[in-house]
Amino acid sequence: MALRQVRIDGDPLLRKKSREVKEVNDHIRELIDDLFDTMYEEEGVGIAAPQVGVLRRIFVVDDREGNKLALINPQLETSGEEQEAMEACLSVPNMQGVVTRKAKVKVSYLDENGEEQSLETDTFLARIIQHENDHLDGVLYTDRASKVYTMEEIEAMEKEQEKQREERGENS
Ligand code: NI
Repeated sequence: MALRQVRIDGDPLLRKKSREVKEVNDHIRELIDDLFDTMYEEEGVGIAAPQVGVLRRIFVVDDREGNKLALINPQLETSGEEQEAMEACLSVPNMQGVVTRKAKVKVSYLDENGEEQSLETDTFLARIIQHENDHLDGVLYTDRASKVYTMEEIEAMEKEQEKQREERGENS
């Protein structure tokens, strides 16, 4: 197991465009293993290679619903409705933001064996894939967010919601 250091917003490397992978070799597979290790250590649902300082078009995801994947040279097609949801990012600690994204994703990519794969999804995975793919073009979710909150603001909102639920419970 090898952990890699996660680059934090402000690091110019996060703003660069990543290059295509020419050959899926052991070096790439080792990077993928490290990406998974780092993602799990940080309790994320996805991480992209530029986030650990490697400007290659690779990211890994695990939606905790059985979809654990490494995607190399992904090509996305998005469709469907625009949906708003909260996002967070390992490179933007202690923040969450509201981001609008398409409901559906069709993605073709190479897996860790260099085999061509494709998948279509309209679940949480569709959002993760769009978020991670943005990293390959130097885009952070905060660029797209309509509102970004600090963890203190999120906790205060959750407390307020809890209070309202309790009040409703008492009144019913
Ligand atoms: Ni991210």
